[in-house]
Amino acid sequence: TQNIYILAIESSCDDTAASVMLNGKILSNVVAGQSIHEAYGGVVPELASRAHQQNIVPVVQQALKRANVDKKQLSAIAFTRGPGLMGSLLVGTSFAKSMAYGLNIPLIDVNHMQAHILAHFIDEDGFNKPPFPFLAMTISGGHTQIVKVNSHFDMEVIGETIDDAVGEAFDKSGKILGLGYPAGPEIDKRAKLGNPKAFKFTKPKVEGLNFSFSGLKTAILYFIQKETKANPNFIEENLNDICASIQYTIIGILIDKLKLASKQTGIKHIAIGGGVSANSGIRQALKDGEGKFGWTTYVPKFEFTTDNAAMIAIVGYLKFLEGEFAQQSVTASSRLKI
Ligand code: KG4
Ligand code: ZN
Repeated sequence: TQNIYILAIESSCDDTAASVMLNGKILSNVVAGQSIHEAYGGVVPELASRAHQQNIVPVVQQALKRANVDKKQLSAIAFTRGPGLMGSLLVGTSFAKSMAYGLNIPLIDVNHMQAHILAHFIDEDGFNKPPFPFLAMTISGGHTQIVKVNSHFDMEVIGETIDDAVGEAFDKSGKILGLGYPAGPEIDKRAKLGNPKAFKFTKPKVEGLNFSFSGLKTAILYFIQKETKANPNFIEENLNDICASIQYTIIGILIDKLKLASKQTGIKHIAIGGGVSANSGIRQALKDGEGKFGWTTYVPKFEFTTDNAAMIAIVGYLKFLEGEFAQQSVTASSRLKI
């Protein structure tokens, strides 16, 4: 049997990542984050592209070294074509094209959102692969979608956000509360220590399977302004309860839509992906859904939830098996659709 080595590169947002995969198994998974954005409370695109340009070669070298693979052994190079920040995508795209050209091996373009879903097909002990068809909810700082996955490359978006992504709801709420960026992990940590029913925020009314999170952010802002006017120490005295209540509301919104999607499609296999799937509350809510609604749920290994190149590698491997390669004329696409 043939050994297929894929080198994968991910640079769609603020993480420069590279991974080496052998026949569907991860040999290395390297991510260089960019702390520079913390000071700005969000990703600054111009700074992100510069940092990618600085990091890309060392990150790729690390990935090859940790995998103990020489670049001459590689079968193909996979890269994130989109969606994402154009300046960031250009760095990974151009690098992957040049390297594939230099090594005279195939180039494989990957859709970042498909990759968040197909991360479930990485060969990992103790993790089951979902059977087709299944529902995938991708929840990150840039996206919130419910996707009906009919096969590896036949996917239908059946619901998505009409404004902010769910990760933004966490991050913008955190900003209002004076937490650092990204605020999702800290809200999660504090939520565990607070009362989720302490404060009530109304859920947005959005038709069908679509989501909206911008109203929630405004509701939280007005609530905090009103309460701090009456008591200037309101935030610090109630921070854990506020975080728990915000997280409870957000998870309620996500689970309501998943319930509806499962009912409409009759599909009970449910997977999540993207940075917000690291959230302990959503993980618990999915587990509860197994007993309550008869779901079978799939949550990726922690390191494959936030942006990484291992998920790009698995798509690269699956496409390699299908003989689906990109031309050297391929260009990055910041709004690439599933
Ligand atoms: O997938 P990701 O790393 O990058 C994007 O493609 O956006 O997701 C980042 C998002 C951020 O909004 C961050 O606050 C959120 O994921 N996040 C969390 C948690 N860990 C990361 N949100 C809630 N709870 C967490 N534990
Ligand atoms: Zn992502």
